[in-house]
Amino acid sequence: MSTFPTVRLRRTRQNEKLRGLVRETHLNVDQLIYPLFIAEGIDEPHKISSMPGIMQWPLQQLDREAERIASLGIPAVLLFGLPSEKDEVGSQAYAAQGIIQQAIRRLKAASPDTLVITDVCLCEYTSHGHCGVIHNGTVQNDESLGLLADMALSHAEAGADIVAPSDMMDGRVGAIRHALDEHGFKQTPIMAYSVKFASAFYGPFREAAGSAPQFGDRRSYQMDPANAREALREIDLDIAEGADIVMVKPAMAYMDVIRQVRDHCNLPIAAYNISGEYAMVKAAAQNGWIDEKRVVMEILTGIRRAGADMIITYFAPDLAQWLRE
Ligand code: PBG
Ligand code: ZN
Repeated sequence: MSTFPTVRLRRTRQNEKLRGLVRETHLNVDQLIYPLFIAEGIDEPHKISSMPGIMQWPLQQLDREAERIASLGIPAVLLFGLPSEKDEVGSQAYAAQGIIQQAIRRLKAASPDTLVITDVCLCEYTSHGHCGVIHNGTVQNDESLGLLADMALSHAEAGADIVAPSDMMDGRVGAIRHALDEHGFKQTPIMAYSVKFASAFYGPFREAAGSAPQFGDRRSYQMDPANAREALREIDLDIAEGADIVMVKPAMAYMDVIRQVRDHCNLPIAAYNISGEYAMVKAAAQNGWIDEKRVVMEILTGIRRAGADMIITYFAPDLAQWLRE
């Protein structure tokens, strides 16, 4: 093998044109998904203090936000709902007139070409804030499956393009696939939050979505951050149950897992650049400690290089703008 001085890697780094020719990884607006929080019973957008720039939206103002997102070229949104009523079994999660069901109809009317992806999970809708139903102080797996399937089905009926279960109950992808197929939604894809870790980085989201558990934590259903082999078992099960897209979440502390999933299967991979990751960058940028644009591009490029196809990120509008400049 030739070596220095015959070989000089700096030759292809001399200017932006040369660097462009040899660049291996690209960010593309076509692969961005932007999360939206929709709150029932508010008239004006509410700021989320731990996520500067992100709002809880009232239904009536979604049209304008949908137009802004579409005009930036962002292809898809991921919806989270804040219902005004919560109960033990999360009834508003699968109510035909629930906040998300209304939001889906509104968004599809305002911007028919924007893909509407919906988060399927009970924690924003249950009074106890857990992702499934509770008996004897524990989250019940099998009893939760029917409710999650009802929720996904009600989203599809309202016009959702993709449903995305994030609850981490065993068997939920199969239960949802079955319910969708039985009711004429054979073509509705499932984006499974297959590898979702019990992460401290979800903190700001729980403020945004009002979904903090009222007792205990989510470690009996979300994955242990220490486990990567188990992540591949989750992937295999979700593929067997009919997932169309698999997700790894969070992204930054789990780039090795994204890479392993990429090497393990042939499904499209989504990575979720989550609320805590967003909040850290924003806080440092607001203090003038980092260059926000460069840091965001570097993080998102890293997530793509690790093997993700699409990225769910609160930075989507900023990135879409930067990619145009
Ligand atoms: C609900 C859900 C969570 C996120 C997406 N769906 C939080 C949680 O499990 O507590 C996190 C998203 C983010 O932090 O940006 N199951
Ligand atoms: Zn949940």
